[in-house]
Amino acid sequence: MANLGTIAALVGARDLILADAYNHACLQQGAQLSRAAVLTYAHGDLEALETHLRARRSHHRRCLIVTDSVFSMDGDWAPLREIMSLADAYSAMVLVDEAHGTGVLGHGRGLVAALGITQPLIQVGTLSKAIGSLGGYVAGSKDLIEFLRNRAGTWIYTTALSPADTAAALRGVELIQREPQRCDRLWQHIEHLRTVLIQPIHTPIIPLHVGDIAQTLAIAQQFQSHGLFIPAIRPPPSPPRASASPSPLPTPLTKSQNSVPGCVTTCQNYVNRPNPSANHELSLRSPSARLEWDVHSIK
Ligand SMILES: Cc1ncc(COP(=O)(O)O)c(C=O)c1O
Repeated sequence: MANLGTIAALVGARDLILADAYNHACLQQGAQLSRAAVLTYAHGDLEALETHLRARRSHHRRCLIVTDSVFSMDGDWAPLREIMSLADAYSAMVLVDEAHGTGVLGHGRGLVAALGITQPLIQVGTLSKAIGSLGGYVAGSKDLIEFLRNRAGTWIYTTALSPADTAAALRGVELIQREPQRCDRLWQHIEHLRTVLIQPIHTPIIPLHVGDIAQTLAIAQQFQSHGLFIPAIRPPPSPPRASASPSPLPTPLTKSQNSVPGCVTTCQNYVNRPNPSANHELSLRSPSARLEWDVHSIK
């Protein structure tokens, strides 16, 4: 809702949106709702972004570059510093969705803080993941917030969050600020997984590209039998590169010495990879189905 309202308020029919191809569905829907012209650029491809800017920026009144900070499918980061430089050069605004950066990167403050970005931009995020409540937020200049209070339909025409959800969200933010050891612990888990998994890990979102829907489901079941909730993601929700959400899980899970390596073995057996890194490369090229490993879930 935060993305829908913000994007549709900021740009309209005379404007241009440039969007990373792997952006979350709500960013794509916000773009559609705005009625702006929408061009996607290949995931993280700055040259493609600049090509669009060079060719199309001058034809439109405003331009908004829209990107996830941490991509919900792959757990990689947007090249945000470079995007900001391009935005400066072409007089574009930048909206970054910190849904998976908040509470994780930059000591909990997100990717923008982690990269030390100080130029004005629009930060949107959710209160439902690391913050542990419900709802979304927009952060930006006072003028931006004032503008959105008067123009964002999803803010104006919906009932506000309940007091309980709001209090829980405030408490979540407070915990992130006051108890940095929680974030440190998350990164210890990430480090732990780095030692047992075969792929580079950038954030708590760790995709495992399987490439076959039946196998993906079977692996997810195996994980579950090890006590790990690692959802299988498959088309159609976001074809062909769907992913799971790292929402807080209902059941606390244990990080036993055996569970994670056991699951990795399970996976490797299923995908039948004699050379894991080669197979990974292969599946990355045609990822029709995948699993996403959410380290938030390992307590
Ligand atoms: C990048 C991104 N933005 C927004 C959302 C939506 O968050 P919520 O479920 O709190 O509405 C998600 C959910 O997974 C997400 O991954």
